[in-house]
Amino acid sequence: MGKIHNIGVLISGSGSNLQAIIDACAAGKIKARVACVISNKEDAYGLERARLAGIPALHLDHRAYTGRESYDQALVATLREFDVELVALAGFMRIITPVLLDAFPMSVMNIHPALLPSFPGLHAQRQALEYGAKVAGCTVHFVDCGTDTGPIILQAAVPVLEGDSEETLSARIQKEEHRVYPEAIRLFTEGLLDVSGRIVAVGS
Ligand code: GAR
Repeated sequence: MGKIHNIGVLISGSGSNLQAIIDACAAGKIKARVACVISNKEDAYGLERARLAGIPALHLDHRAYTGRESYDQALVATLREFDVELVALAGFMRIITPVLLDAFPMSVMNIHPALLPSFPGLHAQRQALEYGAKVAGCTVHFVDCGTDTGPIILQAAVPVLEGDSEETLSARIQKEEHRVYPEAIRLFTEGLLDVSGRIVAVGS
């Protein structure tokens, strides 16, 4: 049996993607464990999900730090404490800096609720609806210094249906998020992602 990888998951909210990752680890689909969950928001439901799963759940309040870099230094120190090898951003609504990225080179992933490079940034589902897109979806990507610009690992598409609201479209996208994020993590932990520039070759 191969090595069990330690994942650190960063959240700000509900943590349904965190739950999908926890469940995939528990089911043995990913050779990894969620070693810690960190939220910048104290009331994030994802912290409760972590506690219920027996995972260290930490609140690191960004407002207690003087700037993004010093906050990221605190994140790095905490992630190192738990021997984290892969950092998974799962609804973590903070811009991260090179302090975190340099500490975990090509080992920080994010999930975004759009088919990048369309609709980066906030309210991606609303952007897709207002633009009149007929197809929406989600993207798992490595994080670089830009906003939602890093090398793409996996994507999944869903239709935009007539009469969709932000809520109905988001729910359809989230179903796919919960499938592709654990899969991207599995590929990473099995050493099946080969990154060259912005191209990610996926092995089997
Ligand atoms: C997810 O839909 C994720 O794609 C999105 O936040 C949601 C978090 O849900 N992330 C972004 O918009 C990042 N730009 P969750 O807390 O239930 O996993």
